[in-house]
Amino acid sequence: AAPTQSPRTTVAPSPIPLPAPERGNYTITDGNGTACLLALMGLQLNITHHSNKVMNLQPNRTTASGSCGVPRATLMLSEDLTNLTFTFTLNLTTQKFFLSAVKVSAFWPDMTDWFVEGNGSLNFLQCSVGRSYMCSAEQMLAVVPTFSINTFRLQLQPFNVTANRFAAAEECRVDQENMLIPIIVGAALAGLVLIVLIAYLIGRKRTHAGYQTI
Ligand SMILES: *[C@@H]1O[C@H](CO)[C@@H](O)[C@H](O)[C@H]1NC(C)=O
Ligand SMILES: *[C@@H]1O[C@H](CO)[C@@H](O)[C@H](O)[C@H]1NC(C)=O
Ligand SMILES: *[C@@H]1O[C@H](CO)[C@@H](O)[C@H](O)[C@H]1NC(C)=O
Ligand SMILES: *[C@@H]1O[C@H](CO)[C@@H](O)[C@H](O)[C@H]1NC(C)=O
Ligand SMILES: *[C@@H]1O[C@H](CO)[C@@H](O)[C@H](O)[C@H]1NC(C)=O
Repeated sequence: AAPTQSPRTTVAPSPIPLPAPERGNYTITDGNGTACLLALMGLQLNITHHSNKVMNLQPNRTTASGSCGVPRATLMLSEDLTNLTFTFTLNLTTQKFFLSAVKVSAFWPDMTDWFVEGNGSLNFLQCSVGRSYMCSAEQMLAVVPTFSINTFRLQLQPFNVTANRFAAAEECRVDQENMLIPIIVGAALAGLVLIVLIAYLIGRKRTHAGYQTI
């Protein structure tokens, strides 16, 4: 039976900004039923083919499949007529993993044919093996000139998952910088307070000295 779900894929013309996508929870399990790939993320797809189209992946209508392995793991996400394949590669020399390939096929309303693109020589979301990659800030992954993915509140681990849980996170640069700003501002304020305090103490000592000589 055909699923009786209300609206189809939401596609907005580019001038109307879409809200941030909902965060999906995608897990791949191995033959034994234990999680071997974990991904938490909101995804927004941006196709500039004939015209610009942006679409949020809706987690509750998206199915995840894939496979785990070394040195390659894949995550496939499908929603209606949108299919995405992410390939993660583990470099055993550097002991780092990264998103090495992305494939997309999409047939959205007002497209005349399937949009099919891919890039197998990417190097995104790099992270040490045994850790999970985390990026709360929005990140743009440029796959090909006509297709990019915006990620939101992302955490993923395609290798060495134990106990169905994420390992310690390695944060992306933007997140680290965002965390650094309050620290720098705080340190600057603390420094200012200290300078004022020292100036005050020196001033008081001088005044005291002044009284004594008179
Ligand atoms: C499944 O479990 C068995 C026994 O615990 C283990 O030897 C095997 O490596 C596991 N297979 C996978 C794919 O994790
Ligand atoms: C989609 O991609 C186009 C072309 O790269 C860009 O101009 C536009 O800002 C992008 N839109 C979003 C919402 O990321
Ligand atoms: C999916 O989630 C959206 C937003 O939370 C909700 O409005 C919609 O009813 C959900 N659809 C299904 C099929 O569960
Ligand atoms: C691993 O990384 C090193 C250093 O960047 C590179 O020279 C090597 O070709 C990579 N190996 C694989 C299998 O990609
Ligand atoms: C694939 O990605 C690489 C790295 O971002 C880029 O240099 C290359 O131009 C891309 N290939 C295509 C066909 O866009």
